Amino acid sequence: MAKIVVVGSASIDLTVIADKRPNAGETVIGQQLMLSSGGKGANQAVAAARLGADVTFVGCVANDSYGNDIIENFKQNNVNIEHLAKVENTTTGTAHIILAEGDNSIVVVPGANLNVSCQIIDNARDEILNADIVMVQQEIPLDSIAYLGELCHSHQIQLLLNPAPIQATPSSVIANAAFITPNEHEASAIFPTMSLNQALQNNPHKLIVTQGSAGALYHDGQEVVTVDGFKVQAVDTTGAGDTFNAAFAVAIAEKKSFAESIKFANAAAALSVQKLGAQGGMPSRTEVEEFLG
Ligand code: RIB
Repeated sequence: MAKIVVVGSASIDLTVIADKRPNAGETVIGQQLMLSSGGKGANQAVAAARLGADVTFVGCVANDSYGNDIIENFKQNNVNIEHLAKVENTTTGTAHIILAEGDNSIVVVPGANLNVSCQIIDNARDEILNADIVMVQQEIPLDSIAYLGELCHSHQIQLLLNPAPIQATPSSVIANAAFITPNEHEASAIFPTMSLNQALQNNPHKLIVTQGSAGALYHDGQEVVTVDGFKVQAVDTTGAGDTFNAAFAVAIAEKKSFAESIKFANAAAALSVQKLGAQGGMPSRTEVEEFLG
């Protein structure tokens, strides 16, 4: 069984579904409010667990009802929360999502996720050093991400950096990561002086640029390779990137080839967008295998 440690954010998503996204200064009437578990870190942990990995989550929630909801959700999804800290004097992270016109827009209020410190990472050192792969995103402090990068690199533990949302990613993390999984916007933010092709060429079997339903790109040492995605009817794309990352990590940890791992990740992501909520459509292992035929 693949052993995965996710260091990252856990939040409650407050999603409003509306026909139209309001312009600045405008008010629109929405149709529905939905509260669900989210946060890029928690999403990736839950997705990997549903795909059959042994997952430990390292992060923080506050001592409030949203924090309790997140803990309950992790338990229901068999994620190990021994290193999920409950912290005082803050609120649990929230993400404020508008789902309209076929896409989402998100404002994240990190709250307790800002407490994911180097000390919190050190507390989980044994799990991290025993992992097949460690995953991190950019909804926790950048100095903690840099610290995790050094720790993983110095012990030859594979680190997958999902550089989302866009932040000033420390160059050491880019160097220390085994895999980096931006979309095209995030890729140009982390490689600002390079074209997409140059960035891929300089990072063979390391940089994977996701393109939604079009699939993903990587460089195999000879040329840029496109692994096609799957065209499905999307209901909600929130969390699709998280599902892709988790599925790729699970497949790589199970020693699937690079291209096979991306295909597996594309399939999991295609299934995830067919239901509402970041975690609502995250598939089980069997669902992905049946989808791939
Ligand atoms: O990647 C999707 C996630 O981003 C949402 O669940 C929301 O919490 C935001 O952090």
